[in-house]
Amino acid sequence: KERERLLLEMELQRSERLKTVSTLAAGMAHEIKNPLTSIKTFVEYIDEKYQDPGFRAKFKNIVPKEVDKIANIIDQLLDYSKVDRVNLKTTDIHRILDYAIDLYNNEFLKKHIKLIKSYNALHPLIECDENQMKQAFINIVLNSIEAMPNGGELAIKTGDINNALEISIQDTGSGITKDKLERLFDPFYTTKEKGTGLGLFIVHQILQNNKGRIAIDSEVNKGTTVKVIFEKEAG
Ligand SMILES: Nc1ncnc2c1ncn2[C@@H]1O[C@H](COP(=O)(O)OP(=O)(O)O)[C@@H](O)[C@H]1O
Ligand SMILES: [Mg+2]
Repeated sequence: KERERLLLEMELQRSERLKTVSTLAAGMAHEIKNPLTSIKTFVEYIDEKYQDPGFRAKFKNIVPKEVDKIANIIDQLLDYSKVDRVNLKTTDIHRILDYAIDLYNNEFLKKHIKLIKSYNALHPLIECDENQMKQAFINIVLNSIEAMPNGGELAIKTGDINNALEISIQDTGSGITKDKLERLFDPFYTTKEKGTGLGLFIVHQILQNNKGRIAIDSEVNKGTTVKVIFEKEAG
């Protein structure tokens, strides 16, 4: 009986993964095809319009942007390709958070973002893949930075709540309308000109593989709170 249940569970996980992979493949085909089409169109006109300074200026502006877009998608898909290989170790979540924050210290200064750190968890140790958790918090912090182009506050807090470790990352940025909240984890869902829409999708997958979960709440023009929660094992 137990064996049967396990096999069924593995089969379900496998079909979930296949579904994700085919969604990703379809999304990627679409996202990469558009920039390639625009690059190709420019190249096709290059002989005819070479003397037109307007055309050349547009060419110089658009082509590098489209190439960057494809490169960003590929970089993030490479991150995604690693999320299945979890290397679980006992890890101090405060150290992981500090790592993600320190990467952006200059950015905080430049963008006038005030950092408020309050680490209150007395039990910050969890079993997780260190590199993946770094990646997850980097993606979350980066979204907050991008949501506060004119400065603001970023509060990073931890605490033991009930039987769980809770990490909250709260910004005073643009916020998200309620109707968009449910799409945030969809691959390629983005509202940014240069976005890939893969950041939160990858965060979600990472948390799934590391036995954590994520919840996002937001209010337009007030800001966004991202909560990452790890339930403590019973006993
Ligand atoms: N902290 C935040 N504040 C406002 N909007 C956010 C925040 N985090 C995520 N979002 C919204 O969720 C979308 C998806 O985020 P993500 O998956 O990281 O992709 P990307 O950052 O490439 O757009 C963003 O385009 C943005 O609209
Ligand atoms: Mg992002």
